[in-house]
Amino acid sequence: MLLSRRSLLASAIFQPSSPLAADPDRPRFHFLPLSNWMNDPNAPIWHKGQYHLYYQHNPKAAKWDTMHWGHAASPDLLHWQHRPIALAPTPGGPDKDGCFTGCMVIDHGTPSIVYTGVRPEVQCIATSQDMNTWTKHPRNPVVAAPPPGVDTPGFRDPHVWREGDAWLMLVGAGFRGKGGTALLYESKDLVEWTYLKPLLTGAIDPAAKGGDVARGEMWECPDFFPVGNKWLFYVSTENKVRYWLGEWKSRTFTPHSSGVLAHGAAYAPKSSNASQGRRIIWCWLREQRSGQDQLKAGWSGAMSLAVVPSLAKDGTLLLDPAAEYTKLRGRRQTEAPPADCCEIHVELSGRAPFGLTRGAVEVIGYDPDTRTLSAGRSEAKLPASGSIDLRIFLDGSVVEVFADRRVWLTGRVYGSYQALAMTGKVKRLESWPLEPVSKDRLTT
Ligand code: FRU
Repeated sequence: MLLSRRSLLASAIFQPSSPLAADPDRPRFHFLPLSNWMNDPNAPIWHKGQYHLYYQHNPKAAKWDTMHWGHAASPDLLHWQHRPIALAPTPGGPDKDGCFTGCMVIDHGTPSIVYTGVRPEVQCIATSQDMNTWTKHPRNPVVAAPPPGVDTPGFRDPHVWREGDAWLMLVGAGFRGKGGTALLYESKDLVEWTYLKPLLTGAIDPAAKGGDVARGEMWECPDFFPVGNKWLFYVSTENKVRYWLGEWKSRTFTPHSSGVLAHGAAYAPKSSNASQGRRIIWCWLREQRSGQDQLKAGWSGAMSLAVVPSLAKDGTLLLDPAAEYTKLRGRRQTEAPPADCCEIHVELSGRAPFGLTRGAVEVIGYDPDTRTLSAGRSEAKLPASGSIDLRIFLDGSVVEVFADRRVWLTGRVYGSYQALAMTGKVKRLESWPLEPVSKDRLTT
């Protein structure tokens, strides 16, 4: 076939330009940026019939540096369109060294982002009419320092919600030498803020090594919202996501139970409103390969599935992937599950070992002696006894497992996309290939 000069030019322009489109480690139904670095989900919201997902982004390289806010939108929680960068540091401004994590509220109809500018860490706001172009408030920073007398290693990641005629805000912080906390503020207009008190305070892990976050001296990314008749509070610290479920009354939070919200690669979750009155949770899925390998790959970080929290009859926390993902299912199979881009359900007795391997690489493992479930190098302990229901999602290097709707385990397993081999006995097995949400692994 002869191609005209014009169509040759057009095909050169519209070819999937990036070699990333052919990178088998890049997922096909999880969200991730065009290229380069992503960490925390920021300000996710369902607004005017569209899901918006912003995220911590370095548009220049596949490593953490000079934080911008990337942005994507979706009509259905599945298919995403990349949008231009939403926030970039303003030279000389309070966010000159980075636009860190934050949230969004709709203030009298106006989308308003509340985020952290660095350095030092201060809280700022930006508004928009179209969710794409953001104007920073002339009075930024709206909170210029931690409350007087609070000696904190950090002061970031505001979470804002409406209660009656007030805005309430939590800011991630810590009491130096003691433990992480989330500081509670109140405002009438998102601009003037009054500090009230710490919502909850943890304790430093005396055995832990590393910086303030690793030791539990600093809590990052607080989030707080109702689930059923309780309130769910979680923070990212000590390399994990800790949650508390409890009562929120007279501006006091009384936790009744606690645990780990998401195990393994997951970090810095952020919740969003969603259709059908649901609340969904997104997590950043960290890489589990070297920084050098991430730079070489040209991308780093993926977003988890959207997960819906609810309460079981006994008041404990259940976690399910949003129902939308079942729309991607192809034909149901009961033998030989696909090795990639698929969903697999297995029921285990709980008393026998189980494993899924791709070539020499173990993707999922279960050890009945310790009741430990693994996904690559991530691990989680399962509750004491009984059979186990696993819902497994394999997507390039991303592995997510939901055990008995209670344990959310995430891991990264790279390469070796050959047939899946199963070891051990299962009581029941079914699987579905899942349809990719884009033709080119979201590289355009
Ligand atoms: C969590 C975090 C946040 C901060 C952001 C910076 O992963 O450290 O506390 O706002 O990432 O990118």
